[in-house]
Amino acid sequence: MAINENEIAALVQQVLREMTGGVPAASAAPANQRGGGDIPKTAHVAVLTGLKHFDIKEYPIPEVGDDDILVKVEGCGVCGTDAHEFKVDPFGLIPVALGHEGTGEIVKMGKNVKVDSAGKPVKVGDKIVTCMIFKDNPDITMFDLNKQNVGGADVYGLLPDDDIHLNGWFSDYIFIRGGSFGSTFFNVSDLDLDSRILIEPCAVLVHAVERAKQTNIMRFNSKVVVQGCGPIGLICIAVLRTMGIETIIAVDGNEQRLAFAKKMGAAATVNFMNHKGIEALTAAVQEACGGKLADFAFQCTGSPVAHANIYHFIRNGGGLCELGFFINGGDATINPHFDLCSKEITLVGSWVYTLRDYVTTFDFLKRAIGIGLPIKELITHKFALEDINEALETNLAQKGLKIAIVNK
Ligand SMILES: NC(=O)c1ccc[n+]([C@@H]2O[C@H](COP(=O)([O-])OP(=O)(O)OC[C@H]3O[C@@H](n4cnc5c(N)ncnc54)[C@H](O)[C@@H]3O)[C@@H](O)[C@H]2O)c1
Ligand SMILES: [Zn+2]
Repeated sequence: MAINENEIAALVQQVLREMTGGVPAASAAPANQRGGGDIPKTAHVAVLTGLKHFDIKEYPIPEVGDDDILVKVEGCGVCGTDAHEFKVDPFGLIPVALGHEGTGEIVKMGKNVKVDSAGKPVKVGDKIVTCMIFKDNPDITMFDLNKQNVGGADVYGLLPDDDIHLNGWFSDYIFIRGGSFGSTFFNVSDLDLDSRILIEPCAVLVHAVERAKQTNIMRFNSKVVVQGCGPIGLICIAVLRTMGIETIIAVDGNEQRLAFAKKMGAAATVNFMNHKGIEALTAAVQEACGGKLADFAFQCTGSPVAHANIYHFIRNGGGLCELGFFINGGDATINPHFDLCSKEITLVGSWVYTLRDYVTTFDFLKRAIGIGLPIKELITHKFALEDINEALETNLAQKGLKIAIVNK
C-alpha cells in the first residue's frame, strides 16, 4: 500500500497528540519541504560561554527554507583550533557554537536542494559534511584551479553567534543555510562515521601533499621526512603511503606517537630527545634515511626550533612543505645562506584546503582503509555532547590523538 508524506505526517501528529495528552505536536512539514518525520522543536548546542566553559543551550529549530538543510549531528572531531578557542578565544567569538569537523544525517531540506557542492544528488537520510562558507566570494568553486588557497573563508563551527544559533557541529542539530550564505557541503553517505569525522584534518594533508607535488621533487622512490607525529603528521604519513611513497622517516619526541607512525607506514623513526644538538640529530635522520639526506620533508609541528632544524635533514636540491604554523608560534631563525640558497631548497607553505581537496580526501580515506592503514585508530577518545568540557580538557592535557564528540 502506498502511503504519502502527508498521511505519514498526520499519523505521526496523531500518535504525538495521544502521547502528549492532546497538546498539538510540531506542525507537519509544509509541502515545499522534504523529510521532517520526528524532528524535535528544539536543538541542543554546546556554546562556549566563557573561557574553558561550554554550556549546553536549547534553541528552537528554525523553519527550513527552500534552500536550507537541517542535519541531525552524529559526531564531530575536536580540532586544535577548538582547543585554542576554549583556552584563550583568540578570535573573540565567545559566545560561540564550536565544532567544524562534524558530520550527520539530513533530516529535512528545502525543495531547491538537489545536489551537493560536487554536483552529487542528495536526499533526506544522506550523510553529509560541510566545507568552507564562501560568503564574501561566492564565485569560488571547487573547479576554479586558480584558487589554491581559501584562507579567510568561514566555516560552520567558527561563526559568530546570531539568531539561528545552530551554527556549530558540537550540537544535536545543525542548520545549513542555503542561497547567498555561501555554504558548501558534500554527500559522504558511502563513508562510515569515524572516517567522516576524520575528513577535515585529512583534507589538510591532502592539500599539503598537493602543494608538495607542485615542487616536482617528490617521487615514488623519494626519501621523505615527516617531522611531528601528532594527528597532522600521522595523517601526512598515511597520505604519502597511499601515494606509494615507502621511505618515510618520522621524527618526534614521543615514543608512543613514533610507534603509531610505524603502524601508519613510516619505515623508520627518530626520537629527537635521544640526540643532543642539530649535528647528532641530523646524523640520526640521515642514518634512518639509509645514509642519505631526505629528498623532501613535511614540517608538522608548531615549534620554531623544529622549523629551523628541518632544513638540515634535506639534501641539496630537495623540497620542504611547511604546514605546522596554523597558529602564530613565533619567529624561527634560519641561515638563508646555508639553509636555502646554497642548498637550492624549494619551499612551499600549505594552508587548509580547497573544495577540490575535500573530494580527493573521500577517495584517500577509502584507499587508506583499503590498504590496511589504521587511520580510524587516530580517534582515541569519544565523548557525549554533555561531556564536552571534559573532552576539551582531555585535548588540552594532550591525552590521546583525535578526540571526538559522538552523539547517542
Ligand atoms: N596548515 C594547516 O592548514 C594546518 C591545519 C591544522 C593544523 N595545523 C598545524 O599543524 C601542527 C600539528 O598539528 P597536530 O594536531 O598534529 O599537533 P600536535 O601538537 O598534536 O603534534 C605536534 C607534534 O610535534 C612534536 N614536536 C614538537 N616539537 C618537535 C620537534 N622539535 N621535533 C619533532 N617533533 C616535535 C610533538 O611531540 C607532537 O607530537 C599544529 O601546529 C597545527 O597548528 C596546520
Ligand atoms: Zn580543524
